[in-house]
Amino acid sequence: MYWNRGKQPRGPVKVQKTKPEKKSAQIKSKERVAAHGEVFTAEREVNAMLDLVKQETERIDSRFLEPACGTGNFLVKILERKLDVVKKKYRRSPLDFERNSVLALSSIYGVDILADNAETCRNRLFKIWNKAYKSVCKSDLNEDTQKSAQFILERNIVCGNALSLMKVDENGNDTDCPIVFSEWAFVRGNTMQRKDYTFADLMRIGEGSELAMPSDEGEFLTQYTSDYRRLWQDDKQA
Ligand SMILES: C[S@@+](CC[C@H](N)C(=O)[O-])C[C@H]1O[C@@H](n2cnc3c(N)ncnc32)[C@H](O)[C@@H]1O
Repeated sequence: MYWNRGKQPRGPVKVQKTKPEKKSAQIKSKERVAAHGEVFTAEREVNAMLDLVKQETERIDSRFLEPACGTGNFLVKILERKLDVVKKKYRRSPLDFERNSVLALSSIYGVDILADNAETCRNRLFKIWNKAYKSVCKSDLNEDTQKSAQFILERNIVCGNALSLMKVDENGNDTDCPIVFSEWAFVRGNTMQRKDYTFADLMRIGEGSELAMPSDEGEFLTQYTSDYRRLWQDDKQA
């Protein structure tokens, strides 16, 4: 209902229709709920839960892994929080923004057993990162950096089984390939180091405490170093 201040309305009072509240898509189908327990968490709950670890969500390089990430409802909010911090600190310096936004993106990991969920999650994360990147870096945009961001997401958001710790095929069945995660870190200047660990090893190392990215402990499979704008060339060096 609306009211003109100071005037008595002539004729019938207009009733302003309020839009029906948008239903958040928490369920795709009954079958998926039954088969995979797929019920996505609503934004309000996501934010409330993330507020419990607020400081960590606002630390650019704190690592988060969601072992049943769905389409990324938690991960996108974490990325948004981190990028807000990167923007506040580095919006006047495109190069520092670029470097730190890549670091923020590289700290986010997810696993989902359904390939379409993993794909959607990657796309959502990329869209958020790319929007922030474009808004700050404008004419300094670098296609190679965008390719690096996509490469990180290809590696960090895995289609796999978080119980068996194996990658899965298009039907959600375990393959012979273990889930492998990359630990990304700047080692000097613009050089980023990537160390690959199996999920199984990370679980073993983290036993009894929180899941650890072991830095210098533990067995890593491979190690690469390259400019953060050319991470996608890593696999060619292998
Ligand atoms: C309850 S939903 C939660 C999704 C997301 N975390 C959220 O809060 O919006 C559970 C998710 O786990 C996935 N899932 C079920 N079993 C899994 C498994 N063994 N390994 C990895 N993901 C699994 C489903 O595909 C689904 O996307």
